Amino acid sequence: MTERTDRNEQRVSVNLAERSYDIVVARGVLDNAGCAIARALGQNGGVAGRTAAIVVNPKVDRIYGPRLVSSLKGAGFSVITIPVAAGESYKTLRAVERIFEQLYRHAVDRKTVIVALGGGVIGDVAGYAAASYQRGLDFVQIPTTLLAQVDSSVGGKTGVNFGSAKNLIGAFYQPRLVLVDPDTLKTLSLRERRSGMAEVIKYGVIADASLFSRISDEIAGLLDLKSSFLEEAIARSCRIKAGVVASDERDMGLRAILNFGHTVGHALESVTNYRTYRHGEAIALGMVSASLIGEEMGITPPAVTRALTDLLVRAGFAVKLDASLGIQQIISLLSLDKKSVAGGARFVLAPNLGSATFGHIVSDAIVTRALDRQRLM
Ligand code: NAD
Ligand code: GLY
Repeated sequence: MTERTDRNEQRVSVNLAERSYDIVVARGVLDNAGCAIARALGQNGGVAGRTAAIVVNPKVDRIYGPRLVSSLKGAGFSVITIPVAAGESYKTLRAVERIFEQLYRHAVDRKTVIVALGGGVIGDVAGYAAASYQRGLDFVQIPTTLLAQVDSSVGGKTGVNFGSAKNLIGAFYQPRLVLVDPDTLKTLSLRERRSGMAEVIKYGVIADASLFSRISDEIAGLLDLKSSFLEEAIARSCRIKAGVVASDERDMGLRAILNFGHTVGHALESVTNYRTYRHGEAIALGMVSASLIGEEMGITPPAVTRALTDLLVRAGFAVKLDASLGIQQIISLLSLDKKSVAGGARFVLAPNLGSATFGHIVSDAIVTRALDRQRLM
């Protein structure tokens, strides 16, 4: 097996004892996937007889499938490709069942590794299939959207939607390796790249003021993929998430800070039936809501809201709440949130750029005041 190395490779470790793994961020790493996966599985001597089952949607398969297949075969894997339909509406138990059917049809054994190639939907569905087939197969993520590269591929949350509930059924199941090739973002639309950028901005707000400031300086170049800071921005985002996951893998406390902007963001996605906003667009609006709520609570300085809205606007996000969205409807959705309590919804708030605190119970009156202000921005 031949391996090209990228001197600019960034490596992030997710430290979870025997479930630890690396995230490798490097342009062109897709072409080294076979060797990298063999090494992560502890198979330096060869993987003869092991199957790699690629789970991918047809569009991403057409663009990147052949390179991945060739790299995996070059490293000695037998390769099968399991096509899964694209889109949130296919993030279902039926999709998981289709993966099981293919694994069964190919009579794969327990040494099989599932390789998810695609965005967050593919990663979540393939990960859940990997967690349950034969009580757990090795799993590798090769995320190809910015959102998946900085968020969904890291941390082991897998699962599917059920009824009208998002991610209701799932498992914590960590991958053995995450391979991030920023070059794959070249075929992603600007809107999708921007959507992922909302999560990168979120990491700056909750944990790294210098990351926030670099993103702010380089936002145009990051969005058009011309900035040489891109790999570092992805790696630093992954490092922040990895640190949080290492201290709260099962989402019992600190991991909540990753949901900055998501309380109102999720309500906006739900109230518009997931049709109006890409996830990051709703999160951008939700981060502004959280910042204004923080101001109303006397926790977030107005300068934070100004810096955040300035960056979001320059990134091309809407920050003003559309007048057609009913504030009472948003608030009633907040009370349905799993994390809400009797006195109000729970929020993650930013006392400063680069830090976040979680578990703030916010009354409906304060949320209303903040959202009213956001309508006038
Ligand atoms: P997605 O997976 O639906 O991908 C968006 C679109 O981009 C798809 O149509 C896909 O075919 C296309 N695509 C993917 N890569 C491409 C490429 N390189 N070039 C061209 N087209 C490409 O959306 P997403 O935003 O990546 O993920 C959203 C999902 O992630 C949601 O289901 C959400 O619940 C989940 N999520 C999970 C976690 C987690 O921790 N597990 C965290 C955040 C979000
Ligand atoms: N996306 C939030 C988490 O992984 O916990």
